[in-house]
Amino acid sequence: GAPVEVDISKLEPGQLIRVEWRGKPVWVVNRSKMTLDSLPAHDGKLRDPQSDEPQQPEYAKNAYRSIKPEIFVAVGLCTHLGCSPNYLPDSFAEQVEGVTSGFFCPCHGSKFDMAGRVFQGVPAPLNLVIPPYQYLSDTTILVG
Ligand code: FES
Repeated sequence: GAPVEVDISKLEPGQLIRVEWRGKPVWVVNRSKMTLDSLPAHDGKLRDPQSDEPQQPEYAKNAYRSIKPEIFVAVGLCTHLGCSPNYLPDSFAEQVEGVTSGFFCPCHGSKFDMAGRVFQGVPAPLNLVIPPYQYLSDTTILVG
């Protein structure tokens, strides 16, 4: 599959855009400062908060799992059996107490935070996969 260019110049905080890469959905989300600041607070509820699992790019091995903190890029497929989780920008607290936004898989209830980190006690074994990507400019990402 060819790499995919994504224009993020109009991506507002809280907004998610979905592109297709190698037949898979890839999400690009603009995370607000408030969202970024809230991430460390739920480390204790996560299965792998430091994202120690090896199968991800070096540039995703940080607190935000991204090259630039505000822009989150992830493969939009649940690491359980591959359903595509729903983005819940406002109502995620119904899934995990104290966490305002995240991703909820409708198939068997797996839950992921805004860095794609999986919560404990759900079937998904791993954090969401971070695909290869790079910045071509401040407003253009190349996925793949
Ligand atoms: Fe997502 Fe099973 S495929 S929880």
